[in-house]
Amino acid sequence: DPVLRDLATAKGRYYGTAVTTSKLTGTYGAITAAQFNSVTPGNEMKWGSVEPTRGSFNWDGADRLVNFAEANGQKVRGHTLVWHSQMPNWLANGTFSDAELRTIMNEHVTTETTRYKGRIDHWDVVNEPLNEDGTMRASTFYTQLGESYIADAFRSARAADPAAKLYINDYNTDGTGAKSNGMYSLVQRLKAQGVPIDGVGFQGHLILGQLPSTLQANLQRFADLGVDVAITELDIRMTLPATTAQLAQQKDEFKAVTTACLAVTRCKGVTAWGFTDSDSWIPDVFPGQGAATPYDESFQPKPAYYGIAEAL
Ligand code: XIL
Repeated sequence: DPVLRDLATAKGRYYGTAVTTSKLTGTYGAITAAQFNSVTPGNEMKWGSVEPTRGSFNWDGADRLVNFAEANGQKVRGHTLVWHSQMPNWLANGTFSDAELRTIMNEHVTTETTRYKGRIDHWDVVNEPLNEDGTMRASTFYTQLGESYIADAFRSARAADPAAKLYINDYNTDGTGAKSNGMYSLVQRLKAQGVPIDGVGFQGHLILGQLPSTLQANLQRFADLGVDVAITELDIRMTLPATTAQLAQQKDEFKAVTTACLAVTRCKGVTAWGFTDSDSWIPDVFPGQGAATPYDESFQPKPAYYGIAEAL
């Protein structure tokens, strides 16, 4: 079989996968190491994972991921520092003054970026800041601190780990539209304020048959703002059970996303949100849907895998 990481490297890009770090042994670990030159922890670097109790940290999963990546010559996408979801209960259910919350957020960013200083290629500093209409999501951070929470988070991350490329990341921004326009305006404002933002991540949680025709043009317009871009969480879900025709269409769509990234000089790479259907979040969150990744549940490559290879 073709080796995705070698093909991507030859093009000066990466092809990555999200992983469950506790599974990085056996066949799962072997495929992760052999095929991908970037890895993202699916959950293990989220705030709720690393600081379940205030002031008490669990870095086991995050450490395992970073060590695995270094042993296998892979980049790491750190995911994610400030997000409205998967926060620890003490934070989600706590009551804090605005000043306290700002300090808590900045200290969290500093603590986590400092721990992995020099070992993370890209940090998703702020995740999912937008509503579907392109306005700012009413997260705790936005509601209490206003839009400046984003600038603060990026500045704290840059100060702690100057080498890491700092990204903002969201979903349903892959094609042009209201939400993508909201992200575009936000990035313009951040750049105008001198906020240290290096990249914009497009999650790419796609539905079979609904690949945005404006994907490449959208990536390009962001790149033209002077930031890197990446597809950070690609999966293409379908109604189960998957048919041969659906899997063939999925191949075309995985190929098209890769081709769109390669066509944009500042598109650094693509990350699949899980490489195997045995380890995908889709069936849990979208009942009746799945088969969203390039390998089946038995770790056999699907047509989508060959589509990626053809594009690379
Ligand atoms: C998902 C994980 O894959 C699941 O295991 C978890 O239960 C929920 O979060 N957007 C993101 C990712 O930025 O962090 C989410 O990951 C998927 C949607």
